[in-house]
Amino acid sequence: MEDGKELEIPPNTNVYCNSVALHTHPDYWGSNSLSWVPGRWFKASSLAPPSQENANEITEEMLQPIRGSYIPWSDGPRVCPGKKFSQVEFVAVLAKLFRTHKVEVVPTQQETPHQARKRVLAVVNDSRIILSLQMRNARSVRLRWVKRK
Ligand code: HEM
Repeated sequence: MEDGKELEIPPNTNVYCNSVALHTHPDYWGSNSLSWVPGRWFKASSLAPPSQENANEITEEMLQPIRGSYIPWSDGPRVCPGKKFSQVEFVAVLAKLFRTHKVEVVPTQQETPHQARKRVLAVVNDSRIILSLQMRNARSVRLRWVKRK
């Protein structure tokens, strides 16, 4: 049913949920849903500037998407059984790596760091759906790990 209209689905038709459309739907992700804004994963209320009392506390709180609006591991009875494992694994790996290093774009010879960042954002935005969302030109971007001072 779409707006009260009945749709007839022919036999042997595969019906999929369009997860890319779901993961970029403005109803769930806001009017900037197509922009690369990793900060959307933090609740706005939790980003208050630290005061003297909470200077050493981590105040960021992760956004909990509305059930069914974020399904990279699928959902329901066939949800990925490795979901929790992979979440814990990549949090552990990223926390370990970023503790000592940061990642930066390798600029071309003529680029300033700002221009390089703009170029990479353009590559990110130029993505298409294959199974999930994939950048067309990902190989044009080089990143390097830089030890933190
Ligand atoms: C970021 C990491 C991962 C993502 C995004 C992911 C995503 C998914 C998705 C979307 C499905 C459902 C596929 C479908 O409906 O046809 C799935 C199924 C599955 N995943 Fe994962 N997965 C991840 C990691 C893992 C890990 C680490 C394991 C095992 C340790 C695992 C084991 C499985 C298995 C066995 C199924 C099939 C479940 C079934 O058919 O009922 N996955 N995964």
